Amino acid sequence: MSTPTNGFRLSGVGSYLPEKIITNADLTASMDTSDEWIRERTGIGQRHVGGTTSELATIASRKAMERANVGPEDIDQLLLATTSPDFICPGTAPEVAYQLGLDCGALDIQAACSGWVYGLIMANGLLLQGMKKILVVGAEALDQITDYTDRNTGILFGNGAGAAVVETDESRAGDLLSWDMGAAGEYVHILYAEHGDVLKMDGREVFRQAVTAMQRSAGNALERAGLTAADIDLVIPHQANVRIVEAAWKRLGFSMDQTAMRLEETGNTSAASIPLVLDKALDEGRLQNGSTVMFLGFGAGMTWACTIVRWAGETR
Ligand code: UT7
Repeated sequence: MSTPTNGFRLSGVGSYLPEKIITNADLTASMDTSDEWIRERTGIGQRHVGGTTSELATIASRKAMERANVGPEDIDQLLLATTSPDFICPGTAPEVAYQLGLDCGALDIQAACSGWVYGLIMANGLLLQGMKKILVVGAEALDQITDYTDRNTGILFGNGAGAAVVETDESRAGDLLSWDMGAAGEYVHILYAEHGDVLKMDGREVFRQAVTAMQRSAGNALERAGLTAADIDLVIPHQANVRIVEAAWKRLGFSMDQTAMRLEETGNTSAASIPLVLDKALDEGRLQNGSTVMFLGFGAGMTWACTIVRWAGETR
């Protein structure tokens, strides 16, 4: 079954990491851990901290809009995926829209680490409604809800933002080939933060559920697109733990050569992680027109989402 679209291209991508870095070595001062353990068990080498979600989102969005060669008047909708909004109320998207000078609807998506991929799927729906250009942003100031003295969670999370301008493509050179999206609320208590508190996590259970969710979601998206793992030129998974990716890839049949990672440099930046990797993959020339790329997210909720895109967007 083909996926209804009006064509789908990411015409400009941008990302931003705040300057301040906490290395694994820095963390050994506040918790019983080691650089070796964190690298071996997660693949993380450092994480960036500082800035608010709206500040980081605004910087990444400006870069994406510049690369897409669009002005604020061209954007029909802002979708901002975040787990760490500036305020509980209002959403962070209106502030970002104001900073960017947009004149359109602005809405937060709270689907944890899957949020940016949820945003792509929502954007396709809005493009089908007649909109032409949607700004889809993932931005996080996770240092606001992370305890950097807790070795269970403090080794993992960092700040960052990534953004893309998503457009219709009448030629269909660029297209959304398939998508999958889901949630399982029975797992809310394996990763959560209560009002005014920090993230709490059952790491082993999140690991197990993440592998299952990735396998299911990527499998569904491949089947709907009529593709196999070998047909995908580049997979960009959510960056949480390299061992989660390796475990999921065993059944899916993906190789790490097909996979773009940025975990060592960023840690887990939740909704920002996939567009942060995408920006780097473009810098490295890993996407060409006609490439097939999969975006695969999972996160607290549990939530998961996958899209397969035929690339005809920005190349560098
Ligand atoms: O976006 C989703 C966000 N969350 C995740 O993706 C988290 C998914 N889970 C994980 O990434 C992993 O479960 C962790 C990285 C959190 C933990 O790794 P693990 O391989 O599951 O470790 P474990 O909890 O099974 O602990 C193994 C050992 C234990 O020691 P013993 O009992 O074997 O002596 C822990 O006490 O490692 C110890 N340990 C640590 N040692 C040094 C646990 N955390 C640390 C640490 N530094 N930070």
